Amino acid sequence: MGSLKLTSIRKAFGTHEVLKGIDLEVEDGEFVIFVGPSGCGKSTLLRVIAGLEDASSGSMQIDGQEVATVPPAKRGIAMVFQSYALYPHLTVKDNMGLGLKQAGTPKPEIETRVAEASRMLSLGPYLARRPAELSGGQRQRVAIGRATVREPKLFLFDEPLSNLDAALRVQTRLEIARLHRQLKATMIYVTHDQVEAMTLADKIVVLNAGAIEQVGSPMELYNKPANTFVAGFIGSPQMNFIEADRLGDAQAKTLGIRPEHIALSREAGDWQAKIVHVEHLGADTILYLETEETGLLTVRLFGEHRFAADEIVFATPDRSRLHRFDAKDQAIA
Ligand SMILES: Nc1ncnc2c1ncn2[C@@H]1O[C@H](COP(=O)(O)OP(=O)(O)OP(=O)(O)O)[C@@H](O)[C@H]1O
Ligand SMILES: [Mg+2]
Repeated sequence: MGSLKLTSIRKAFGTHEVLKGIDLEVEDGEFVIFVGPSGCGKSTLLRVIAGLEDASSGSMQIDGQEVATVPPAKRGIAMVFQSYALYPHLTVKDNMGLGLKQAGTPKPEIETRVAEASRMLSLGPYLARRPAELSGGQRQRVAIGRATVREPKLFLFDEPLSNLDAALRVQTRLEIARLHRQLKATMIYVTHDQVEAMTLADKIVVLNAGAIEQVGSPMELYNKPANTFVAGFIGSPQMNFIEADRLGDAQAKTLGIRPEHIALSREAGDWQAKIVHVEHLGADTILYLETEETGLLTVRLFGEHRFAADEIVFATPDRSRLHRFDAKDQAIA
């Protein structure tokens, strides 16, 4: 059990309104990811849910019960921060068990739960070590373990992997996905990483300046962004935006086409283009083109391609993947 319902949550610091009326429903067992630009209110919203920060107004229910009156420690929520905040003088085992000990859990029960968590997170060999004797990834796993032993209904993660190097991020990402499958707990997770968001989430919440722009599954947001903000935010490299009247579309203001939905040819195509720059990534080739119709255009091709700067090529968009937006930047159905 761990469903969550937020209704008109507002939060102001002084006169600065950081959350501007958040309505959100999270189902039991769901993996929900918050994304949005720096400063848009992701951490603040997470802290309000955790009870570390009081909302200025609005209401919040967990499993249908109003939580405003329940003290944070009794809400069945565990939060994992970017900075692991482990106790340096305690061993891994004691760091993981401390919360339970403080809550008066019997010792054998603590032993069992810590053993279970350390097995799930492959921390068995490190139980007697202190945090200073661990790598960053191992410390982060201890922080996650400390949250799981409390068997919360709701896990909150605030950019838990951002201190890790690329390989370790992938490994820990897979561990979190596995943990979610095993525990079937509700998880809310903040990240700046597109791949984490797309791969872990059942549902992504796109926040912008304290308000929700769109909520949907990763593929819904990718295929049907509700507005230009979401269209530009989800997907990397970013969607190309083109003034619609340059392409003879009088109804739309802006057209959008993702870099991976444009084909290139040396012989023929819709838009004659000059290559400005090429990035060879091995698995992909990213090209930056200049065309008369669209201005600067990013194209992503699968695999290696021998295009070079200053070459003249032809770009052709997949018309079925074209996005249309009106003067208010909203998607046209
Ligand atoms: N305790 C506070 N007092 C005053 N302003 C605050 C406080 N905490 C956060 N803010 C402001 O609220 C806004 C949202 O901050 P928040 O930390 O929620 O952003 P975020 O989306 O998590 O950003 P990031 O991606 O950089 O972590 C920011 O403008 C921040 O300066
Ligand atoms: Mg933050």
